[in-house]
Formats: sequence, C-alpha cells, structure tokens
Amino acid sequence: MTSFEKKEHARQEAFETIWETQIDAVFTDVAAVYDKANDFASLGMLKGLRRRFIASIDVEPGQRVLDVCAGTNVIGIELLKKQPGLDVYAVDRSDAMQRVGKDRASQQGFEIKGHICDVHRLPFPDNHFDVVTLQYATRHLRVIDVFSEINRVLKPGGNFYHCDMLRPANKFIEEAYCLYLKGCLKTISWAIRSGPDAMACHGYFVDAIRLFYSTDELSRLLSELGFSHVTGRPMLGGTVAFHKACKA
Ligand SMILES: C[S@@+](CC[C@H](N)C(=O)[O-])C[C@H]1O[C@@H](n2cnc3c(N)ncnc32)[C@H](O)[C@@H]1O
Repeated sequence: MTSFEKKEHARQEAFETIWETQIDAVFTDVAAVYDKANDFASLGMLKGLRRRFIASIDVEPGQRVLDVCAGTNVIGIELLKKQPGLDVYAVDRSDAMQRVGKDRASQQGFEIKGHICDVHRLPFPDNHFDVVTLQYATRHLRVIDVFSEINRVLKPGGNFYHCDMLRPANKFIEEAYCLYLKGCLKTISWAIRSGPDAMACHGYFVDAIRLFYSTDELSRLLSELGFSHVTGRPMLGGTVAFHKACKA
C-alpha cells in the first residue's frame, strides 16, 4: 500500500458514514443560501479567490468542460462569462444545489448540462473533456478514486484545475485556521437556522481539514496518479491552493 492509499484508507474509515448519510442532507439544507453564507464565512475573500481561479483556467471556444461537484454552478457560470462558446457540463449528487445552479445559469442566459450522480463514477466516456474543474469538494470524496475518474474522462493533453481548502503545512496556521472554522460554522449555522444534520457536522468539517492534504502532498498525489505538468499554488498560508494537472 502506498502512503497515499494508507491516508485514503484512514480518511474513508473516519468519514465514510458521514459522507454516505449526512453530507447530502447538509447541502440540501443550505442550498438556497449557500453562496451568500460562503461569502460571509470567508469575509468576502471567496469572490477574490474565485476570480483568480477562473483567471487561471485556459479555455477556448468550442471546448467541452466538466465541473465536478458543481453545487450551484458558480464555476460553470463564471467560465461561460469568460468564454461563452464553451459546452459546459456539471455533476453533483445534490439535486437541491443543482436546482439553484440551473436557475442561476438560465437567469443569466447560460445553459449548463447538469447530471445528478455520485462523482466516484462519472457518467461519461473516456477522453471526453478538454477541461475538468473541481472546487471546494474534494475533502468530502475518496480522492484517488475521483481523480482517477477525472483522468479517465479528460482527453490526452486536457487540463484538470482544482481548488480547495487544504491542510496548511504549518502547524500554527493549522491550529488558528481550525479555530476560525469552528467559530465560523457555529455563527453561520445559527444565522441561517441550520437543520440538525448541518449542526451535527461542525466537528466533521474541521476534522476533514486535519486529515486532508497539504498543497505539496496534493501535487505529489496528482503526479503519482499519472498527471503531468502538475503545479500547486498555495494561498492564504496554505489554507487554500490552486492545482493544475495535465492528462499525459
Ligand atoms: C462545498 S460544495 C462546493 C460546490 C461548488 N463546487 C462551489 O465551489 O461552490 C460541495 C459540493 O459537493 C457535492 N458532493 C459532495 N460529495 C459528493 C459526491 N460523492 N458526489 C457528487 N457530489 C458530491 C455536494 O453536493 C456539494 O454540492
């Protein structure tokens, strides 16, 4: 077993029940206010990060793009604003999040082809997409399985762009970050009157960061899975990072 397989095994053992029984209810609960709550929790920083992430993504007219764990379609919509000639697909397990996303896209005159499914098995043929994106969801997934699926559906030479909250490599930053997260989650849950599933998941959201990858670890994992030209760009003390990886 490689060290990454061991880590994935530990993550799965710790979180499998939550992933299978609670995460969907949490996103159903917050779907209507998800984007506003995120802006609040990040003290407005999320918009700036999103702008930088979108700017880092190279897209050309006519390309086929897949956004994995698309939620409310923030990435698909921003990519279509940047390049209206794209053919954009979205996959997510949450019908509630995708309904909000579909409405938001059509209100702005965009079409995003949504699929409701578990992303551990992507419902697309091999070598199908020019670009795949995945933002703020990998902590809730079996990473090796999903990244391998992404590699499968990308065309050779296609690019995978990833953005997520990661485990800071620096222990002091990690502790401060986890404290901040705990406080934030409590405040938001109270403000939006979260249901019992979201309330019960506060500890999980912090533990998921503690057991997650640092920027460098995620770069190494992508390379080990066969991606080439892997780059990882840590931001905000390594609490967030952008990765780009090419299908060889
Ligand atoms: C934090 S949201 C991020 C949404 C979006 N990418 C964004 O940046 O706003 C996480 C999303 O991952 C989805 N998700 C979590 N586990 C999933 C799984 N196993 N299969 C499909 N979607 C999943 C949730 O339904 C939710 O919409």
